[in-house]
Amino acid sequence: MTTYQTAIFREGTAHQIFLEFTAREAVTSLPDEAPADSAVDGGEQLVAFGGGLLRGLEALETPPDTVDFTPIEGAEGFRAPATQRDLFVWLHGEKRDELFARALEWRDSLYPVADLTHEDHGFRFRDSRDLTGFVDGSANPKGDAQQAAALIQTGEHAGGSFVLAQRWVHNLSGFSKLSMADQERVIGRTKSDSIELEGDAMPPDSHVSRTDLKRDGNAVKIYRRSSPVGTSSDAGLYFLAFSADQQRFRWLLDSMFGLTGDGLHDHLLHFSRPVTGSFFYAPPRDALLRAFDLR
Ligand code: HEM
Repeated sequence: MTTYQTAIFREGTAHQIFLEFTAREAVTSLPDEAPADSAVDGGEQLVAFGGGLLRGLEALETPPDTVDFTPIEGAEGFRAPATQRDLFVWLHGEKRDELFARALEWRDSLYPVADLTHEDHGFRFRDSRDLTGFVDGSANPKGDAQQAAALIQTGEHAGGSFVLAQRWVHNLSGFSKLSMADQERVIGRTKSDSIELEGDAMPPDSHVSRTDLKRDGNAVKIYRRSSPVGTSSDAGLYFLAFSADQQRFRWLLDSMFGLTGDGLHDHLLHFSRPVTGSFFYAPPRDALLRAFDLR
């Protein structure tokens, strides 16, 4: 039976914590104390690995073609830096105190082998909006299409999922100076009710135009679970997405960053910039338990 990490699919939780660790040296197993399989009261936990750590862990098979995130040098000087980390923990749920306690457990238990090198705390903003005020997730796959987009469907890694994690920092004061119509043209949807712009009203460089992609006739589908994060002075988005195929992330980013040869880039880049970038692999739940020697 195919298993997967259920944290990927539980939507609508109020609080999020994102932890990224860097291994201090090559590790072949993780400390026994790591709370890999204990339930989080009122919440969920996802554990995913960067390619370097994956290849070292004796108990976990790496899917073929798993690559690390590499920097993107886009059109007009737009850049996406690579800060590839080794281990990713995503906690989300209704009880911020319980998530916080779990984050401390992870930090302490991994301390002998890894440093916590990036941490963000996220929150649900109004009715699941990004801090620009636009609904985030409207065109996300629904129902069975979520698993088809997010999980490897067949073979020995079935149930596993590739992850893109990227912290973005918004220029909210710049964005708020745009008229409502211009803001909507940047995103490609209306602000109040998230209706997609149609026909001539939809600019070819809107965020939706650059990310609603087809390759060889097939829609490039990912399942997004991003969250508003930060403080009022570094407000932004922790972009988090899951995919059955790691290449889809690169196709989408290349389209956003103007690397697809059509002379266009995503207008959103004028108002937000990524400051981190990692690819991870979230193994199926049974493989995760084996890796932590839990059964
Ligand atoms: C500052 C960063 C970003 C913000 C604020 C943002 C926000 C949004 C918003 C408001 C929408 C429209 C509503 C929806 O369908 O969810 C959207 C759609 C989408 N975004 Fe982003 N996004 C960001 C970065 C990214 C990145 C890095 C990717 C891919 C690597 C991405 C992929 C997509 C996709 C695939 C869609 C759906 C397009 C469609 O089929 O209509 N986004 N995003």
